[in-house]
Amino acid sequence: MITKNNLIQIIAIARKCNECAMLHFNQLTKENINYKVDASPVTKGDIAVNKIAVLGLQKIFPKIVIVSEEFEKSQKQLKNSNLFWLVDPIDGTKEYINGSPNFTVNFGLIKDQEPIFGLIAQPFTGTIWFSFKGKAWKLNKNKELLDAKNIYCSEINIKKLKVISSLSHRSKDLENWVNMIKPIFEENIGSSIKFCILAEGKMDLYPRNKPTMEWDIAAGHSILKAAGGNIFSESGMQIQYGKTNFKNKNFLAVGKITQRLPSFFLMGLNQLNRVKYKQDLNLAVKAIKDKKLVVFPTETVYGIGAIGNSEIAINAIYSAKQRPYNNPLIAHTYNKHEAEKIVVFTKIAHLLTDQFWPGPLTIILQIKKNNLSNILSQGSKTLAVRVPSHPVALDLLEKVNTPILAPSANKSGGVSPTSANHAREDFGPHYKGKSWVLEKILDYGVCEVGIESTVVDCRGKSPIILRHGAITETMISNATNTKALTLNKTEELISPGLLKSHYAPNAKVLLNQKNIITDSGWLTFGKIPKSLQKHENMFNLSLDGNLIKAGELLYSGLRFLDSSGVKVIQVMTIPKIGIGIAINDRLTRASSEEESNI
Ligand code: TXA
Ligand code: MG
Repeated sequence: MITKNNLIQIIAIARKCNECAMLHFNQLTKENINYKVDASPVTKGDIAVNKIAVLGLQKIFPKIVIVSEEFEKSQKQLKNSNLFWLVDPIDGTKEYINGSPNFTVNFGLIKDQEPIFGLIAQPFTGTIWFSFKGKAWKLNKNKELLDAKNIYCSEINIKKLKVISSLSHRSKDLENWVNMIKPIFEENIGSSIKFCILAEGKMDLYPRNKPTMEWDIAAGHSILKAAGGNIFSESGMQIQYGKTNFKNKNFLAVGKITQRLPSFFLMGLNQLNRVKYKQDLNLAVKAIKDKKLVVFPTETVYGIGAIGNSEIAINAIYSAKQRPYNNPLIAHTYNKHEAEKIVVFTKIAHLLTDQFWPGPLTIILQIKKNNLSNILSQGSKTLAVRVPSHPVALDLLEKVNTPILAPSANKSGGVSPTSANHAREDFGPHYKGKSWVLEKILDYGVCEVGIESTVVDCRGKSPIILRHGAITETMISNATNTKALTLNKTEELISPGLLKSHYAPNAKVLLNQKNIITDSGWLTFGKIPKSLQKHENMFNLSLDGNLIKAGELLYSGLRFLDSSGVKVIQVMTIPKIGIGIAINDRLTRASSEEESNI
């Protein structure tokens, strides 16, 4: 994507930005500082550097959308573009004003929600860090590109952690987090330079539980990834880009990890009662081992799990959900190694799981012939497997140490659950039936993605998408270097769970609606039309037309409208791009008149 020539040109722009920033830095007076609506400062330097950066990038990449921190709100429009620049002309303006050297110029390039190129320049020292061809580099002031040196994260040693955090955003929560993980060394520094320090292996972790924007972290994220690290959300997913208003939630930036970090590193970013969590988890592990059912969060939707080595436990899932027996279940494991014990990995499977596990991807493979896989697949020759990223799910899987079969925690054919309350609505108030007991609900927040995992048949030479999800067709084709096929383009393959009528609320669902029918509820997307503004039963998926947000809220919206008692749910048109494809897929099934084939 970025050629060597591009890189040389981008570095030249960054150096111009450095000079400009220093010029203004040396002449900074109070009169040059203004304050934005959110009370954050902006200087003449920010504006001047922004101009150089934006005009420079525009010239090299005339077709790529640029979003800059210093644009007016109306210019910060993306329309779900899958390729765009995120520019922060001066990150650490507070440092800049205070005369500290730690302010930076940031360019990050995003493709399919992921940073694929990043450059951070530090005007004060003239140093530039960037990612290029899968590696991270450091280039000193006035040096030629040839002199750039590779940098690497150091491997994290849990017992000797070094933590770097923000200078101006210390909070009680952060203090609690630091007390919990007990680092041997701690430092506070302003601006995105923290990512460079992690990428150079000088520090291990950078926790953040105060608001940040995507342009603050995109360049640093790309450099950190290229150096062997990453940035994770509380549900263990790599931070995505192109979110509503470009706002990030809590995150943890990490150096190189060879083992999964303890869950409380992520969960502790928010208030976490560790004693209660331990009790909850122990009860859940015991219940699963006792062949009872447990509802637990994943990054996609809540699952209802049963131990995979017991027919009694597996039957309980089918009874609880009233799920047809011809619809097989996904086996969840806590890492790839465990998955390899039960299914035969193909080249496609390796390529996909190396990139997207742990995360919202399920793969279908041939089972290995052993006792466990036989029960897991209930006699079928294939098995669906998935390694979720959510720390609660992973803790449960690791402690049980046998794969857990877990469909979404809703009644068969109904709307999937994205919160523990959704599961309570479906299985309460008694939480048991003739041949099942739901012993424990692990209630740990709302699901980040909101739509079930992408299901891909990986047995052949080409990946075949059986169910769309957050990992899109383009992402799968890119990761495997093979065009991904979709179910309707293939002939004989059937995924029993992909019934035409599925994910359906009680109300009738109508798609691509414009005109109001009496007594209907509305699921809107984007700006609310005037005629609907005072409508009683309306749920907006995303006011700014953001598909990631719409995915997160889709099932809450359907459940909300259904519970309001309307007979018809009218849905506005939602674009069929990115995760919009999965959203449309679920809505089409929800609207299907055809009875589920059971
Ligand atoms: O995100 C998810 O995948 C969630 C969370 C809990 O992990 N689980 C989930 O499971 O959505 P479930 O059972 O609701 O959907 C599994 C889908 C169904 O469409 C099923 O037919 C398909 O995967 N599936 C399972 N095993 C299969 C197999 N061996 N061959 C083809 N399709 C399979
Ligand atoms: Mg389901």
